[in-house]
Amino acid sequence: MHSTFNDKNIALDLVRVTEAGALQAAPFVGRGDKEAADGAAVDAMRSAFNAINVQGTVVIGEGEKDHAPMLYIGEKVGSGKSVKVDIAVDPVEGTTAVASGRANGLSVIGMAEANSMFNPAHSYYCKKIAVGAEAAGVIDIDAPIDYNLKMLAAAVGKDIRDLNIFVLDKPRHIELVKQIRHCGARVMLHSDGDVAGALMAMDPRASIDMLVGTGGTPEAVITACAFKGSGAQLLTRLDPQSQEEKDMILADGINLNQIRDVDDLVKSDECFFAATGITDGELLKGVEFKGDYAVTHSITTRGKTGTMRYIEAWHNRKKLNELLHINHI
Ligand code: FBP
Repeated sequence: MHSTFNDKNIALDLVRVTEAGALQAAPFVGRGDKEAADGAAVDAMRSAFNAINVQGTVVIGEGEKDHAPMLYIGEKVGSGKSVKVDIAVDPVEGTTAVASGRANGLSVIGMAEANSMFNPAHSYYCKKIAVGAEAAGVIDIDAPIDYNLKMLAAAVGKDIRDLNIFVLDKPRHIELVKQIRHCGARVMLHSDGDVAGALMAMDPRASIDMLVGTGGTPEAVITACAFKGSGAQLLTRLDPQSQEEKDMILADGINLNQIRDVDDLVKSDECFFAATGITDGELLKGVEFKGDYAVTHSITTRGKTGTMRYIEAWHNRKKLNELLHINHI
């Protein structure tokens, strides 16, 4: 079968880019400086991208060119050779979590065939509901939460009271949290990081059965890259949190009411995802400094085959510091 990537699993190259981002962000964990962690990860990932043989265009990145010196939307990345691809990158997903030493900080990248990713333009927030493959097809983004919990419980063979539901701990979710608890399920509140939350819903080894609530639209596209090929389900609908955001989405000509699933967010199966933990999470530990080594924990997925890999890497700090022209780790 024809493959744009000649059957190469480029996710294995991508993981070196997210490792670079996580390694550089890690020294800033818990230091209260979001910008410093983000800036260090951006620098490292931008230069690591050059080693990848693609002609990449950043579709989801650090923002508009005027405000972001690197990895800005529209920027070209990669060696400039070989296939054209869309890139979704978040050097530090969960900047507040990283700055405050809390869980779920990740360095993440999604990559897919050119022109296949949904471009959120000025949409910052969307409603999301995500479940693993066992429960795919039974949830309904428009249904009341009790319906979704009942359907989920039946699909995964659990009592509702044993379901673990990931929700971002935000004032906009107060009512949702009350309703989930009223139905008897357990709410796992996390201050940040709904990409990590979605990965937990996707991977049957994690304790989370479903993610629900409103989070970032760019994060939803990144999540879709991870879900492609896994059979897990993500349903989204844009959910602007201000009149200004709503007006900008309408001016962009984007349909506000459409339900977008994984295939709407990323059309091509030629899709790859990599994430490396910066701070500890349930599936991925954060960067650990152990003597001469920095240890990273990553996940990669490939849309076409549905393969999911966990990769632990031991980086020799002395050698890396000699080789890299960026901050020492
Ligand atoms: P950042 O890295 O941009 O801070 O995103 C962290 C995050 O928690 C995302 O995982 C989530 O989608 C989004 O923020 C939710 O936004 P908000 O914190 O504004 O409610």
